[in-house]
Amino acid sequence: AAAKRGAFSSRQVFILAAIGSAVGLGNIWRFPYVAYDNGGGAFVIPYIVALLTAGIPFLFLDYAMGHRFRGSAPLSFARLRRGTEGLGWWQVGICFMIAIYYAAVMAWAVRYTIFSVNKAWGDDPEGFFFGEFLQAGDPGVDATPVWGVLIPLLLVWVAILAVMLLGVQKGVGASSVIFIPLLVVAFVILVVRSLFLPGAAEGLDALFTPNWGALTDATVWAAAYGQIFFSLSIGFGIMITYSSYVHKHTDMPGSGLVVGFANSSFELLAGIGVFAALGFMAQANGVAVGDVATSGIGLAFVAFPAIISEAPAGALIGVLFFFSLVIAGFTSMVSIVEVVISGVRDKFEMTRTGATIAVTIPMAVLSLIFFSTTSGIYVLDIIDHFINQFGILLVAVISMLILSWGLRVLPTFSAHLSDGSSIVVGAWWRILVSIVAPIGLVLVLGLSFWEDLKTPYEGYPGWMLGVFGWGGAAAVIVFGFLAAQAKWRDPEALSEIHF
Ligand code: PHE
Ligand code: NA
Repeated sequence: AAAKRGAFSSRQVFILAAIGSAVGLGNIWRFPYVAYDNGGGAFVIPYIVALLTAGIPFLFLDYAMGHRFRGSAPLSFARLRRGTEGLGWWQVGICFMIAIYYAAVMAWAVRYTIFSVNKAWGDDPEGFFFGEFLQAGDPGVDATPVWGVLIPLLLVWVAILAVMLLGVQKGVGASSVIFIPLLVVAFVILVVRSLFLPGAAEGLDALFTPNWGALTDATVWAAAYGQIFFSLSIGFGIMITYSSYVHKHTDMPGSGLVVGFANSSFELLAGIGVFAALGFMAQANGVAVGDVATSGIGLAFVAFPAIISEAPAGALIGVLFFFSLVIAGFTSMVSIVEVVISGVRDKFEMTRTGATIAVTIPMAVLSLIFFSTTSGIYVLDIIDHFINQFGILLVAVISMLILSWGLRVLPTFSAHLSDGSSIVVGAWWRILVSIVAPIGLVLVLGLSFWEDLKTPYEGYPGWMLGVFGWGGAAAVIVFGFLAAQAKWRDPEALSEIHF
């Protein structure tokens, strides 16, 4: 059955695919502002602590699950212990939700790559984005289609479908082998260009000037742990799935260090590029960098267009920036969709083609229904916030605790990981995974839970937060437990690997 599931042809392809998943929108539009907002240069300390005490250790845990049990998230958990299959489906549910809105952001970036050429937003990027482009009404639900989004969104899904149909090596693997080097080249040119803009130095000063006082603030530490989990794509099935496609005798911890290092390097690079550009914008408008610093949708679709309009050779900056978003997003998107396809495929013993169609078409349809209408952006913003806070982090901490304390599998896992690796994954790792990382995560979760209860996120109406935010986060849990009740097409598959 192993051959039927597909495999990466080499360790290098696996590493590139894992980097492809890790390096995404989060590196480019999330990290720079998180670092700036949480101590600037001083953020390097909580960031590295979070990386070493939680990020890398949990990356290894995901690798051990997938590499040892050779299955998708649901199959790996079910093989470990029947009763934990639901955790795998919970992760599948999270990926399903993320995929349907992630595609929309990519569709916008595709449009904006083209808009950059003639700066289609004129002198009002914000009005253009929400008005002419998205045609956003008031927060609520409205089903009027927006063709300028619907068509590129359809194209994004066709591209995803095509890659997924090609399979693990020729689709998932090959797309990263091509896109990651391309991304590095495009992004390095962008960063170098930005560094030569007037005001770039002030931007870098704003990013790197350390605010040591931030280190005593719990929210700063929480931000570091949150960023690391999101950024490394750990804890929600992706790395379990990918490592199930790696040959048995492979140095997994060594690969993990390469992936972690590559991802953090790309975050640093993006921080430099983004803040150099923001420094230029601040200087051009005679304001402080702090007045223009922002992240996410506002950075990419409002601030950057303004920079593109004002900077010399702005069109080049624009095309490189949005093209980078598109390809960085694409390889992450592929990894999210693969979690769902692989889960469905293992459980129902479907062919690659059958499972790909059965999974991708419904996702595409939902994505088009929700995100190509005039209310798309609000739903997207809410789901993104809640699924990151209460989807990814919650399933990560719960599975970590169940594996280490409930099932006590860490000794076996550390033996598995150390076998064939120059890195000894020993007691230090078990302590980090069972104690230090969960404490970090509980802190993040507690703080953001409190925050969301105290103040309604972004002031959205309560019913929208209830339905799409809390409701969405709860729905994936319910889905997880229901999906685990369904019968395995071939129950033998569960016992192929003995633990
Ligand atoms: N790790 C990706 C990033 O930093 C984000 C991501 C989120 C990837 C969800 C896959 C799934 O951008
Ligand atoms: Na990342």
